[in-house]
This record gives sequence, C-alpha cells and structure tokens, in this order.
Amino acid sequence: MAFFRTEQTQLVEPAASLRAQVDPSRLPAHVAIIMDGNGRWARRRGLPRIAGHRRGAESARAVITAARTVGVGVLTLYAFSIENWKRPKSEIDTLMSLLVEYLKKEEPGMRENGIRFCAIGDLDLLPPGARETVQGVVSRTAGHSGLRLNLALNYGGRDEIVRAVRRLGREIAKGTLDPASIDETAISRALDTAGLPDPDLLIRTSGEKRISNFLLWQTAYAELHFTETLWPDFREEDFLKAILDFQKRERRFGLTGEQVRDQHNGR
Ligand code: IPE
Ligand code: IPE
Ligand code: MG
Repeated sequence: MAFFRTEQTQLVEPAASLRAQVDPSRLPAHVAIIMDGNGRWARRRGLPRIAGHRRGAESARAVITAARTVGVGVLTLYAFSIENWKRPKSEIDTLMSLLVEYLKKEEPGMRENGIRFCAIGDLDLLPPGARETVQGVVSRTAGHSGLRLNLALNYGGRDEIVRAVRRLGREIAKGTLDPASIDETAISRALDTAGLPDPDLLIRTSGEKRISNFLLWQTAYAELHFTETLWPDFREEDFLKAILDFQKRERRFGLTGEQVRDQHNGR
C-alpha cells in the first residue's frame, strides 16, 4: 500500500486506497457533520477567524464530492447554530456573506451533479438576502435525485423540537390530529428532517466531544466519530476514514452481540 508524508511527517493513506476499503453494502445512509475548528485553524496561523471559515468552505466542497462519490445518500452539515448569534456582529455578517458567496459559486456544480440542496433550521430569522439565496437554490435543485445535501442554518435541536411540537399542537387545535395517535413517527415527520433516515454517523472535528444542540432527536442511535483534525484541514481522506471507522462498529440497537451476529448469519 502506498503512503506519503505530510508536512507534519504523519503517515497518510491516499484517498484512492481508502476508497477501495469502503464496503459499498454497509454505507451510512445519512452522515451528519459538526464542522468545528475554523477559528482555531486561523488563529494558529495568525490569521483572522474568517480566513478559517473561508478555508472551511473548501472542506465542505471536498466532503460533498467525497460523499457523492462514495454513494452516501444524505449529508447534513452544521453551518450556523442558533447559539452562534452570540458571536461578534462582524463575524456573523461575514459568515452570512460567505454563505451567499458560497451558494452562488456552488449552485452550477450542484445542478451538474444532481445534488438536491435543502436547509434545516429556522430560516425566518436569517438576514433577508441570505434567506432568499438559500430558498432560491433549494427550489432550483428540488427536482434533483442525487445526494441530498442539508445545510443547518440558524439551527438548534431543541428549537427544532419546539417548532415540531407547535406544528402538532396547531393540528390538534384544528381537530385534524388525535393526541393519542402521536408516536415517534409523527414527531419525526414534524421535524425539519421529515422523510429522511436518521444519521447513522455523526462526525465532529476539532477535538471537541459534544453535540452542541445538533440533531438531538435524530442522533438517538448514531455512531459518533470525533477527530482532532480542524475543519479547514478536513478532506476526502478524513471523511473516508470516518466511514471506515463506522464500518468497524457493531450496531446493536439494544440487542446482545450474539443476537446481532445471528441476524447477520440469517439465523
Ligand atoms: C466552526 O468553527 C464554524 C462555526 C461555528 C460557524 P468555529 O468558528 O467554531 O471555530 P473554533 O471552534 O472557534 O475554532
Ligand atoms: C457548533 O460549533 C456549531 C457549528 C459547527 C455550526 P460551535 O463552535 O458553535 O460549538 P461550541 O460553542 O463549541 O459548542
Ligand atoms: Mg467552534
């Protein structure tokens, strides 16, 4: 197997070799990523935080291509949390203009590659320019049947659940929903991710080991992959390594290991 050395003299396995190890019959249907560490990446280079966000956009592009190539059906990227409004206004403004710039630049590629772009989160609270750009790309890619790419914008897992409960409450008030009929499926259908499989794999970069209010309901049984790599350094190789790590896990969903192995052996 061929390896090459990076600046840090780490042994790095090239993407083609990693790709060949991926088992296409055991791919995660949905991968969610908490793209963290842009600020630290920039600070380590003496650059403004926004330089990290800019470089992070390149990681997003690389990972979207990698997900499409390997055959992942749904990719959800956490781009801006509800809590991120607490950051300095100048950083928020630049992030919003970076979002518009990114979508304008990426839309032709999304159309070429059949990517269906969607947003999750409360879009009503985005600045009007950003909201219109997002909605435009969502509607112009709605007919695509390739990778489903969700960008989480002004997203909070608890807020999503609150909005879902309100939605169900309005139906009860109208008399179109019987409270006794509310089950887990009904709640899943009222969330922003309605109709999508739950993430099988959740990746967080930058060494932090927390969920930060991301997909709280949907990640109930996700496999978690944490990496020290900062998001601006995250590329196809890192994504493939996370998939390979996922493929080594035994997902038990409450069963015993013996039961799971019996299932695999068709017993
Ligand atoms: C993630 O990187 C991007 C956003 C949350 C918008 P950060 O900006 O959080 O980077 P760190 O965590 O400060 O390094
Ligand atoms: C989570 O990262 C949100 C996004 C990646 C968009 P943060 O950097 O905001 O999370 P905390 O503050 O470290 O929990
Ligand atoms: Mg962070």
